[in-house]
Amino acid sequence: MVQRVKTVAAALLTLATAHLALPSHSLPAFVHPSVDAAAKTSPTNETLSLTIQLRLQPALDIPAHVKSDPQALGLFVKKTVDEHASRTQASLLEVLRSLGEEVTFLQSFSVSNTLVVDLTPTALTVIRTHEDILSIHVNGAFKARLPAPASHRPSEPHQANLAQSPAQWNLHQIGADQVWSEGFTGQNLIYAAADTGVRYTHQALLPNYAGLQKNGTVNHNFVWYDGVRRPVNPNVRNLLCPPPMQFPCDDFGHGTHVMATAVGKDGFGVATSAKWIACRNMDGGVGRPETYLNCLQFFIAPTNLAGQGADPSRRPAVIGNSYGCANDEMCDPNTFTSAIATLRAAGIFMAVASGNDGQQGCSSVDSPPATSGQVTVVGAVDRHLAIPSWSSHGQVPGRNPTNRGVDLVAPGVAINSAWFDTDTDNATISGTSMAAPHVAGAVLLVASACPHLERNVDAIQTLLEQTATPVFPSVTNCGDRLTQVPNSFAGYGQVNVTAAVAQCLRGGA
Ligand SMILES: *[C@@H]1O[C@H](CO)[C@@H](O)[C@H](O)[C@H]1NC(C)=O
Ligand SMILES: *[C@@H]1O[C@H](CO)[C@@H](O)[C@H](O)[C@H]1NC(C)=O
Ligand SMILES: *[C@@H]1O[C@H](CO)[C@@H](O)[C@H](O)[C@H]1NC(C)=O
Ligand SMILES: *[C@@H]1O[C@H](CO)[C@@H](O)[C@H](O)[C@H]1NC(C)=O
Repeated sequence: MVQRVKTVAAALLTLATAHLALPSHSLPAFVHPSVDAAAKTSPTNETLSLTIQLRLQPALDIPAHVKSDPQALGLFVKKTVDEHASRTQASLLEVLRSLGEEVTFLQSFSVSNTLVVDLTPTALTVIRTHEDILSIHVNGAFKARLPAPASHRPSEPHQANLAQSPAQWNLHQIGADQVWSEGFTGQNLIYAAADTGVRYTHQALLPNYAGLQKNGTVNHNFVWYDGVRRPVNPNVRNLLCPPPMQFPCDDFGHGTHVMATAVGKDGFGVATSAKWIACRNMDGGVGRPETYLNCLQFFIAPTNLAGQGADPSRRPAVIGNSYGCANDEMCDPNTFTSAIATLRAAGIFMAVASGNDGQQGCSSVDSPPATSGQVTVVGAVDRHLAIPSWSSHGQVPGRNPTNRGVDLVAPGVAINSAWFDTDTDNATISGTSMAAPHVAGAVLLVASACPHLERNVDAIQTLLEQTATPVFPSVTNCGDRLTQVPNSFAGYGQVNVTAAVAQCLRGGA
């Protein structure tokens, strides 16, 4: 799989170089080989599901007076990408509509300027040379590499301990408890996670659910969206959470666990009073580009349950991303790059798990969204600040000036958090999935302590990096000098939210 990722990247590079002298509109679209493989084996009366990435990206040049006004910023970015998408998709949409019944499904995304289309192989031959297309990939189901090394799979979930106990080791290790005692708990901020869903009635999660009203009723509009609009695998019926769900539901456990690590009560969460919203991007642990896109589109401007009334003022401050688009055949890196640029421009911080493929060595950060330079990539450490062998690390060429694949680390070994079986269960599991929400929670604590930093993703990222506790790999070093900071295993080191808050309160950021 790693090899095939490289092949795709190389193919794109070759195309770009070979045609450098030509006007950009003459570049042929990159059609992933798996598209033609699927077309060849598909009977002519059956459709293929594809993602079509448009060539032109919007210029997100944001005027200073807009940048400094969070409300105006959200509206500006949403309006810019919407107008750009409707302008640049118009010609291709006209062709697709003219194909009548040859096209059975069509959805347009402005967050990344992408179309998801189900069409016949005949229709594909008509559109594949359209000059507005950058790339075409299969919108296929793939199993996201969710956690976790088997030895730390949840055993028998037990009742959560409700007593006000000292902060769990993982929260203490990043200095969250010190920041709480100063009165900063993520208040007045919105957190979002795109994952396997959430058991919203869990006692550690319900109090912070943005859908909970003062009178105790719940309203799921604008705070929950099922990115699984249709089954990812039509042959597998999802009995626990049949899509599309009209309220938050988790069929896997992973989404509930990572949500509570960022914003849960009962001693599980970092930012104990931030409100959460959520979007499901996996169906039984399996997602596809369409489900990932549905969630990223929802987060720039949350909608009601029917997908209407998009409102950028409800967008989150931070998104936790504990998944990777692991199979290159199913995932266009251009699409993620484009969506991530939109989210960052709107002032949304993306905390992303580095992956659990560390055994594959120094290029084991290989799956979008972690390969993007515009997200904060988080690896795992244990309670002794040691990096587990499975924490993905190494170089991603061009990601940043030092090509490092990891920006920060956080606790990710044997993390106790909420579990999805009942409203009181908890489980102890491991993975970089568990590390990323610690950094997301740290961002919320910093933004509640230093509101002038809200929506300033660059400043918060720099602050967390500069105040992190350096961590060094013990075995190999992927070409880094021995005590190099940042290094390609741990980036700048373990997030230290006590130090980060102290520095921003001093006016150091
Ligand atoms: C496609 O055509 C074949 C042969 O005519 C038929 O058996 C099959 O059911 C058709 N499939 C669909 C999806 O219509
Ligand atoms: C609870 O509050 C919501 C929002 O304020 C309101 O729409 C709803 O009617 C109330 N429900 C009850 C049962 O009081
Ligand atoms: C559940 O949490 C309690 C403490 O809150 C802990 O003692 C217990 O080991 C946890 N159970 C699991 C399965 O992790
Ligand atoms: C985090 O920063 C605080 C304040 O500078 C310091 O006292 C603490 O030792 C640091 N924690 C770690 C794990 O480095």
